[in-house]
Amino acid sequence: MGQSELCWTANAFLFLLFLPGILGWGREGHYMICKIAEKYLTEDALSMVKELLPSYAEGDLAAVCSWADELRAHPDYHWSGALHYVDTPDFFCNYKCSRDCHDNYRHKGRCVTAAIYNYTMQLESAYKEITSEIKYNLTEALMFLSHFIGDVHQPLHVGFVGDIGGNLIKVSWYRRRTNLHHVWDTMIIDSALKRFYHSNLLLMIQAIQNNISDEWHNEVSAWRNCTVNQTTCPNPYASESVSMACKYAYKNATPGSVLEDSYFLSRLPVIEKRLAQGGIRLASTLNRIFASEGKVAEI
Ligand SMILES: *[C@@H]1O[C@H](CO)[C@@H](O)[C@H](O)[C@H]1NC(C)=O
Ligand SMILES: *[C@@H]1O[C@H](CO)[C@@H](O)[C@H](O)[C@H]1NC(C)=O
Ligand SMILES: *[C@@H]1O[C@H](CO)[C@@H](O)[C@H](O)[C@H]1NC(C)=O
Ligand SMILES: *[C@@H]1O[C@H](CO)[C@@H](O)[C@H](O)[C@H]1NC(C)=O
Ligand SMILES: *[C@@H]1O[C@H](CO)[C@@H](O)[C@H](O)[C@H]1NC(C)=O
Ligand SMILES: [Zn+2]
Repeated sequence: MGQSELCWTANAFLFLLFLPGILGWGREGHYMICKIAEKYLTEDALSMVKELLPSYAEGDLAAVCSWADELRAHPDYHWSGALHYVDTPDFFCNYKCSRDCHDNYRHKGRCVTAAIYNYTMQLESAYKEITSEIKYNLTEALMFLSHFIGDVHQPLHVGFVGDIGGNLIKVSWYRRRTNLHHVWDTMIIDSALKRFYHSNLLLMIQAIQNNISDEWHNEVSAWRNCTVNQTTCPNPYASESVSMACKYAYKNATPGSVLEDSYFLSRLPVIEKRLAQGGIRLASTLNRIFASEGKVAEI
């Protein structure tokens, strides 16, 4: 058994944890990732997703992709706070599951990549009817999984532990005071919506989708790729994220920086591609989970 398998199967106990202020992509980011994913679901996956969604979602996965952020403040769900991210030691631009996947109390397996394995496994074992003692809430498993695959693609969700993924780096976004993490969750996307997409989320989603089928067409199969017989592959996504955090997010954004057009215009394409990758990979994970026997090889 390889190090990474040992790492993610490490027993995950339930510990209480509450860390305020570390959200995922903002609402728009998660919505876009799930909207993109919906377009690439197989028929089998789409019908299972619809079956599992809560009724208020009205069949739309994107409607519940921020659910995991909304419930974090609820006392019953404080334990889920650590599952939205994973931090590396300061100035380490690589991700190592065995070193990094733990919460602030160093409880192993309390991090976003382990959570992705966890909820993938819950859905898969129920769907493939592998008998399991514990009955999980599969609606929650689907909503957590869809959210966390998004989060792991936000570069600063795999940032440095000392600044809490950029949360402690105070910067100005044009004339507004904020922190670097928030810039990457929300501000870049908000500014792009206003400046380029008439504040219309659907236009931005469409532009990203156009790139998926055109500009990035040749890369998409590599995005989908996962180790043979594995259903999901979050570790490489976390590695990509921290390397982008170093190369694009932290770069030229020291405490007190005023971030304006040069930062905005050079980082926006990075974020748009991450949203695309998050959507494609969420779809292919769900497609693999809900593949009928014998169809696995085609996905
Ligand atoms: C796995 O899912 C269960 C049910 O939501 C949860 O109690 C547990 O903390 C999760 N563990 C990880 C590592 O995600
Ligand atoms: C499963 O979770 C959803 C969302 O939290 C909740 O509305 C529903 O009641 C839960 N189902 C069961 C059987 O506990
Ligand atoms: C589409 O791809 C081009 C070329 O890589 C890039 O400049 C542009 O920002 C992308 N647009 C979107 C919406 O992803
Ligand atoms: C697919 O993923 C595997 C394991 O992560 C890797 O060894 C292989 O090089 C990848 N192939 C492509 C085409 O990206
Ligand atoms: C993948 O799974 C199939 C069917 O269970 C098995 O025959 C094959 O050897 C597996 N491949 C690897 C690389 O584990
Ligand atoms: Zn989150």
